[in-house]
Amino acid sequence: MGTMTGPIGVIDSGIGGLSVVTALRDLLPQEDIVYIADPKYFPYGEKTTEELLCIIRPFFSFFLDEFSTKLVVTACGSVSATCLPFLNREIPVPVIGIVEPGVNEAIAITQTRTIAVLATNATVKSGMFRRLIERVGRNLRVIEKAWPEFIEAVERGEYHTPSWFSQVSRELESLRSQGADTVIMGCTHFSLITAFFEEAADSRIRIVDPAKACAREVKTCLDVTGTTGSGNGQTLMYVRGERSHFHWVLDMLNGVTFQSLNSFPEEYDVVSRRSQCAFPSCARIIRTK
Ligand code: DGL
Repeated sequence: MGTMTGPIGVIDSGIGGLSVVTALRDLLPQEDIVYIADPKYFPYGEKTTEELLCIIRPFFSFFLDEFSTKLVVTACGSVSATCLPFLNREIPVPVIGIVEPGVNEAIAITQTRTIAVLATNATVKSGMFRRLIERVGRNLRVIEKAWPEFIEAVERGEYHTPSWFSQVSRELESLRSQGADTVIMGCTHFSLITAFFEEAADSRIRIVDPAKACAREVKTCLDVTGTTGSGNGQTLMYVRGERSHFHWVLDMLNGVTFQSLNSFPEEYDVVSRRSQCAFPSCARIIRTK
């Protein structure tokens, strides 16, 4: 089996997917990683599948044309829950999401057989977590909750307050009182602040961070396909839209240093430059941007 020099691509609407970047860095120090964040179209959790596909397709063209990316992680619960089957058909390299790794880990640890999922509206509506969990065990119960307000606070770096801390505590207590002993961070913005959830949980409920399990799945995929890298361990970031609010998060990432922070190149930003997208709902996004 040979080695490949192409990087791993990672995408999210904002900073949430950095949880996966951190986990990949720990597990695969030699790999090069290119991360794309998309504050221009944040929040993804309020978009339809068709809209999301139009929004993220330019990222795949960019990854494949500019970097010969060998694998892409959709480090976003919403994209993973809604777009993955389409992407796996369209994209000529493996595309890995966060839903399945999170589900497998939660099923392995739950004892009450009741698993909670905190995610976006798009993810909850897709029913993907529920379907996967119920497919594995018919006697498993799933409680799902969308929490877009808290995702916004995390994206803006405004979550670390006594008020949010007690809201998170109350939410976790409510899930526990409904029988859940395990809660999946079904949105990567939550997985990025797993430590905050753990502190608020105070051991009353187990927190599953899918980022680590996702990184393990990436490693397995590289091993199996013989594409483990021999890169320099570089991490690059491209941002579509306003990036001034990113600096707080870069300071808190343990062990990840970005070699460069760039704007996503306009020539690839076909979502906003062309309006011939096949999906009617996309014309709406294009018009409003
Ligand atoms: N981090 C994303 C997710 O996991 C998206 C949050 C959002 O853009 O709504 O779903």
